[in-house]
Amino acid sequence: MLDQYNRDIYYLRIAVTDLCNLRCTYCMPKEGIKLKKHEEILSFEDFFEIVKVAIKLGFYKFRLTGGEPLVRRGIIDLVKMLAQINGVKTLAMTTNGLLLPQYAKELKKAGLSRLNISLDSLKPEKYKEITRGGKLEDVLAGIKSSCEAGFEKTKLNAVIVDGFNDDEKDNLKKFAEENKMKIRFIKKMDLKSGDYYGVEGGEGGDCSICNRIRLTADGKLRSCLFSDYEVDVRQVGIEQAFRQVIGNKPAKGEKSLKREMIEIGG
Ligand code: 5AD
Ligand code: SF4
Repeated sequence: MLDQYNRDIYYLRIAVTDLCNLRCTYCMPKEGIKLKKHEEILSFEDFFEIVKVAIKLGFYKFRLTGGEPLVRRGIIDLVKMLAQINGVKTLAMTTNGLLLPQYAKELKKAGLSRLNISLDSLKPEKYKEITRGGKLEDVLAGIKSSCEAGFEKTKLNAVIVDGFNDDEKDNLKKFAEENKMKIRFIKKMDLKSGDYYGVEGGEGGDCSICNRIRLTADGKLRSCLFSDYEVDVRQVGIEQAFRQVIGNKPAKGEKSLKREMIEIGG
């Protein structure tokens, strides 16, 4: 569907949970976020209906994010449900990779098209620091399982923080190549200040060709990462919510004060 600046919006990022098994410094505030009630979170049936309406409006690319999508109970069933819908050309997932040893094969079988895996450092100490407690060996095991499960064209996401891990770019690139993956270096963004945005080696970051909107786990469609404008799909109805949000998608992002990154899924 075209927005008012003639951009074709066909890509929906779906946050299936705002919970995570890591607490990355650039994503989650130190004190954590307020836990949402079960009723606030969209059900699998809700996601199913929303994706069907999205397809009717011209969407064909979908990505499951979070929080960490693999901590949502029943995630394999959700992938199956969505992958089967006629008109879903791509169903991808962005994950921190920790649970891939358990899930990679099932995800592939369920019809997931592609993975993005977050990996900000190859030094165990730094990985632990930036993720507030994560073990590097766990994500490396996850990356390995994704290959064994037959996933191809996997992308590695590295959030680069100047003075912290910018010296690892060459190593990360080499690691990605050795694993037949592509690396994307993402500049750390700050929603509150509106400080953004640069992605090396991938799409994103150029507002003039932006093709996406986002759905939060609690059912709000968002026009832009850097805008607080959002519409509740359960309040206004799915199709109307899409029309309003696409109609109000800003020419370029400014800032977002209401939510944390972990609730929007990057
Ligand atoms: N800046 C840049 N990217 C972020 N992500 C999360 N928070 C931020 C941030 N503040 C992205 C990372 C991560 C994905 C889940 O979301 O790319 O891999
Ligand atoms: Fe979790 Fe990903 Fe956020 Fe890290 S960046 S806290 S892994 S959702």
